Amino acid sequence: MKGMATVEQAIEEKRLFMIDYHDLLLPYVNKVRELPGTTLYGSRTVFFLTDEGALMPIAIELTRPKSPTKPQWKRVFTHTYDATGSWLWRLAKIHVAAHDAGYHQLVVHWLRTHCCTEPYIIATNRRLSVMHPIYRLLRPHFRYTMEINALAREALINAGGIIETSFSPGKYSMELSSVAYDKLWRFDQQALPADLISRGMAVEDPTVDHGLRLTIEDYPFAADGLLVWSALKQWVEDYVTHCYTDADAIKSDGELQAWWGEIRTKGHADKKDEPWWPKLETPADLVGILTTIIWVTSGHHAAVNFGQYHYGGYFPNRPTLARNNMPNILPSR
Ligand SMILES: [Fe+2]
Repeated sequence: MKGMATVEQAIEEKRLFMIDYHDLLLPYVNKVRELPGTTLYGSRTVFFLTDEGALMPIAIELTRPKSPTKPQWKRVFTHTYDATGSWLWRLAKIHVAAHDAGYHQLVVHWLRTHCCTEPYIIATNRRLSVMHPIYRLLRPHFRYTMEINALAREALINAGGIIETSFSPGKYSMELSSVAYDKLWRFDQQALPADLISRGMAVEDPTVDHGLRLTIEDYPFAADGLLVWSALKQWVEDYVTHCYTDADAIKSDGELQAWWGEIRTKGHADKKDEPWWPKLETPADLVGILTTIIWVTSGHHAAVNFGQYHYGGYFPNRPTLARNNMPNILPSR
């Protein structure tokens, strides 16, 4: 860690970051290892933010929990210059890349932007008249989502489909996605600013653009995303305040209240009693809810979907499947 005397100093100066796939993957490690042709670890990867603003991986911890026949196996790999160590480092990075590719597709893409948006679309069609102004506002942002989700259920995420046959967790892929929904998904954190703050990638600062100071300046998802988020929010605010002049207008709109109630209590029924659901009592509440829904189905989905071929089309960038365990040897030094 160039120039950093201690880990504490690096943490203090916000130079250390972690991608943590330990808790989510660990319960699946032994189960996945019983499937033919695949393997899995829990992983934690620590990154150092360089003076140039790049995130460099500096340590990878891979874990296999104890099984009925074997004790726990856990090891930390770091970048070394001897031949054995550098190959172990490279192999460890491949495992983490496979974890990341899986998490990206099963959680970030499918779960957050396809699956969790279905309740919004169904409730919009069931509860809002086609003449309702909010129906008209939302409709363009929901174009093709249900069709694509139906196709995904036929060929991508179905049993024995493309996801199960080409991702490390195999037949547990959709179960893992469901567990991630249970443990991680919150409506309020789907808003881009709240998402960035919850991941430590931004802090509130009223003196800067968008009211957020980014932890890493060169982070396009955040920097470009906030431009899109702010434009969406302004558009939604202008539209909503044109239609609803005060809180009474929101509270007395039976269609609108039924729409929000159905999203929370029917579409996301497993989470209906969570305290973090926003209330829908004022025009500002409606602006927040709508901007979040529109952001996830447009900007957020675009960010996690449309770059996939350009980046992941070169397979070593995004290996989806790791077939072999790490060699159980120590570097020579
Ligand atoms: Fe997509």
